[in-house]
Amino acid sequence: GLAAAPLGLAVGCGPDPAAKSATLAEAGTSRPLPIPPLAESTVDDAGVRHFTLRAGAGTTEIVAGKLTDTWGFNGSILGPTVRAERGESVAFTIDNTLAEPTTVHWHGMHLPARYDGGPHQTIEAGGRWEPAWTIGQPASTLWYHPHPHGSTERHVQRGLAGLFLIDDADTRALDIPKTYGVDDVPLIIQDRRFLADGSFDESDPTDIGLLGDTIVTNGISDAYLDVTTGVVRLRILNGSSGRLYNLGFPDDRTFDLIATDCGLLESPIAIKRIQLSPGERAEIVVRVDPGATTTLVSFPIEDGGGVSSSDAENFGMNDRFDIIELRGVASRASRSTLPAQLAALPRLDPSKASVSRTFDLQWYMINGQRMDMNRIDFEAEVGATEVWTITNKDNWPHNFHVHDVQFQILDVDGRTPPPHLRGLKDTVYTPPGSRVRVALQWSEYTDPTFPYMFHCHLLMHEDQGMMGQFLVLEPGQKAAPMQMDMPMD
Ligand code: C2O
Ligand code: CU
Repeated sequence: GLAAAPLGLAVGCGPDPAAKSATLAEAGTSRPLPIPPLAESTVDDAGVRHFTLRAGAGTTEIVAGKLTDTWGFNGSILGPTVRAERGESVAFTIDNTLAEPTTVHWHGMHLPARYDGGPHQTIEAGGRWEPAWTIGQPASTLWYHPHPHGSTERHVQRGLAGLFLIDDADTRALDIPKTYGVDDVPLIIQDRRFLADGSFDESDPTDIGLLGDTIVTNGISDAYLDVTTGVVRLRILNGSSGRLYNLGFPDDRTFDLIATDCGLLESPIAIKRIQLSPGERAEIVVRVDPGATTTLVSFPIEDGGGVSSSDAENFGMNDRFDIIELRGVASRASRSTLPAQLAALPRLDPSKASVSRTFDLQWYMINGQRMDMNRIDFEAEVGATEVWTITNKDNWPHNFHVHDVQFQILDVDGRTPPPHLRGLKDTVYTPPGSRVRVALQWSEYTDPTFPYMFHCHLLMHEDQGMMGQFLVLEPGQKAAPMQMDMPMD
């Protein structure tokens, strides 16, 4: 029972991604939220689950009555939701039918660097890439998106992004909403601007990149969701380039935050607002009574995101958007409580850390340097626990994302992080002047040849070079020459 996508809108499905076949709906009408289909897979004799993704161009009716040239995986925009079990081995066949190189990065995934899909794993136009690994991390809402050096914003903005859900036995045993597309609903939030002819307006970036004036959820604007189950779990991804969201409801009702970037929290937290910077995820459980309607809204960002009032205006911090209407319809089953305990979170002991590193974010640089595909910024040792101090020395907003590892936030400006920042994370917002300390531990995968990335996840900043690379090595192992199939500038 998946909710149907509006007629003619191919979200991650359809036989031919290049087909220009969208049917016009009546302009100005609200449409049901498209639910990205679950990616089809087959399991081979060795137990490996195989998926196929194809990046290609198409046309999508994002705004009712307008056709937009878009890119997608297995369809015209976004991609299917990949779903696999902790402990399972997965393998992908990824074809690039675009006219230019791209990559596919598994955001939030712990996996070998050669399959990470960063800027070194280029898939040429017409090319194929076949990564494979075993999933070894807890149930969570991860995502996948391109990461070509200097072009990530454009590739994601045109529509290349999808969710990657990891399941595990502990989470399946919990009494929480879990029927995909019914009471467990993916919600990819993005912002876009359009020209009069319906095409994306990719001009006039702000100092934090492209900001849109139209909210797009799972690939369409002006969407609603029928809530048939009394409560609904929304798995929210901020898939925008540079915009922050501060999500809540007009009546200031509380809802339960149950998970952040890399999995469940220890217990549900009743909150009225959740802020997400680009790349971050949150899973919330919201009650919508039958017959009642409410709207998920993005309110102005608290404290203007920490930037000056004139910059706050330029960076969209004061904007208020309706994200999606939730319509309570006759309830099939209702649930009044959530389990008090959700997950046991591993806690690293920062006093056991053998390495500390500092990362200063300033002027499109990290520690005074821009990304260089030929430079390894540091070498880490597998097994080591590290403490990182990340400081935003700009007046601009930044955030910070690390590949391969899930970190825990130790403190924000010296203070214990608020409850919603106490789960496992891979991306954290760093307001101007702020200092965030995180603890992390390298495990399992080493490679002297392929690096992982760390960067600001405001995609224009990343493209401008707010990124660096590191190797994870065995003790005593030496770095080997990097392998690159992409010409350097
Ligand atoms: Cu979501 Cu390095 O990226
Ligand atoms: Cu930044």
